[in-house]
Amino acid sequence: MAKGGFAFGAHEMDKQEKSWEKRFTGGPDALTVDFVQSLSYDKRLYKYDIVGSIAHAQMLAEQKLITKPEFKQIKDGLIEISQEIAEGRFKFDKTYEDIHMAIEAALVAKIGQAGEKLHTGRSRNDQVAMDIRLWMRDQIEILQAKITLLQKAFVKLAGKHTEDVMPGFTHLQRAQPIVIGAYLLSFVERLERDLARLKNCRQLLNVSPLGSGAVAGSTLALDRKSTAEQLGFFDISRNSIDAVSDRDFCAEFIFDCALIATHLSQLAEDWIIFSSTEFGFISVEDSFCTSSSMMPQKRNPDILELIRAKTGAVYGSLMAVLTILKAQPTGYNRDLQEDKIHVFAASDTVSSSMDAACAIVSHTTFNTRKIKTSLEEGFLDATALAEYLVGKGVAFRQAHGIVGSLVAYCERAGKKLGGLGLDELKKYSALIGPDVYEYLGAANVAAKYITEGAAGSGQTKGQVTFWQKRLAER
Ligand code: ARG
Repeated sequence: MAKGGFAFGAHEMDKQEKSWEKRFTGGPDALTVDFVQSLSYDKRLYKYDIVGSIAHAQMLAEQKLITKPEFKQIKDGLIEISQEIAEGRFKFDKTYEDIHMAIEAALVAKIGQAGEKLHTGRSRNDQVAMDIRLWMRDQIEILQAKITLLQKAFVKLAGKHTEDVMPGFTHLQRAQPIVIGAYLLSFVERLERDLARLKNCRQLLNVSPLGSGAVAGSTLALDRKSTAEQLGFFDISRNSIDAVSDRDFCAEFIFDCALIATHLSQLAEDWIIFSSTEFGFISVEDSFCTSSSMMPQKRNPDILELIRAKTGAVYGSLMAVLTILKAQPTGYNRDLQEDKIHVFAASDTVSSSMDAACAIVSHTTFNTRKIKTSLEEGFLDATALAEYLVGKGVAFRQAHGIVGSLVAYCERAGKKLGGLGLDELKKYSALIGPDVYEYLGAANVAAKYITEGAAGSGQTKGQVTFWQKRLAER
């Protein structure tokens, strides 16, 4: 492309060359334009870029680096550009590389000379570091709101099942009886940690890099605290070199997204299994199921499968960003431009998976009757029986052995522990008395849990109340 051959889009203006083209002979090759541009994906930062530029310009005016009328021109121009973009009237021209240059060029086209002063004391390096922080702050709040909605959906469902018992699994084998509500609240706990991780991430990233320039700061009297304050940053970064190259927060953000995705994939896996005919524990409403193009009877949990699958892409983003950061020489490198691709992708994926998970949780019922029909399978009460013997003074290891033998006997005789007569039970331990039946049968066991945080009915009711109160405050 010839020098100065950049179309100016919506802004009827003569071809404008980028300032650094003075240094180069001729414009960039078309391949260069395509390869280096980030405008196609960083344009979603436009609002943050504009807000940041207005704050920067205001500070320049406060510091008398530009005049007040110039500031006003810059501000009005940027607001107009923001409206043009919001209304789809702005023509994005990739020859400007990124959103920062595209907006600045449009501003110069609009207001001329004053626009040329906007970049005073600033580099795209500190500018992009600021944009992405501002974007992420908002995005974290959106994700936190979605987490809360999903938690509320779980708590609502848990509140309906504080008495109903289901098998608790370890190794996907029947282990001990649990209350359905307790199972559901286990997801609320996971999500609560996800929320806390995001909060921590937000705190760490909430420092302003503005004024760090390209890498070394500036010889101009910039007031970094002013821009930081205007933009709601908690503080300013301490070290300009670190400020332009730090993307720890991007890796951390994606990791937080990856753990959310992990938790959603665990839910998805459980519920795909639970909704199978073999289990039949839950029914997901028709409107959130799909069918088969061939088998007319099918009701498939495709949404859950896709939530499970999309986790892979989020892990991919995490690996990508860590690898981008690995062994980068100190200072800004263009590698950093690629961070946004993965940050946005991870965030978008998790955001839509959360919506889908929230919809599913809100439209699923537990088939308590069906669950009950098989509740006495698998000796869910065996551990409680061993603990009963402990209560009678038997050492736990011995009790474990006694119950193991009883289970083997039941399997041979085709019986359940609760179906054994006292005479049969006494053959294995003379200490067993008639009160043993309070500890046999899944529902009885679930009523006997006394430890804090146990998966019993009383504890679950307490937890439901705790979460209702905590979530109502959000
Ligand atoms: N678009 C770049 C990014 O996203 C910012 C540009 C910095 N470019 C430069 N040549 N220093 O990181």
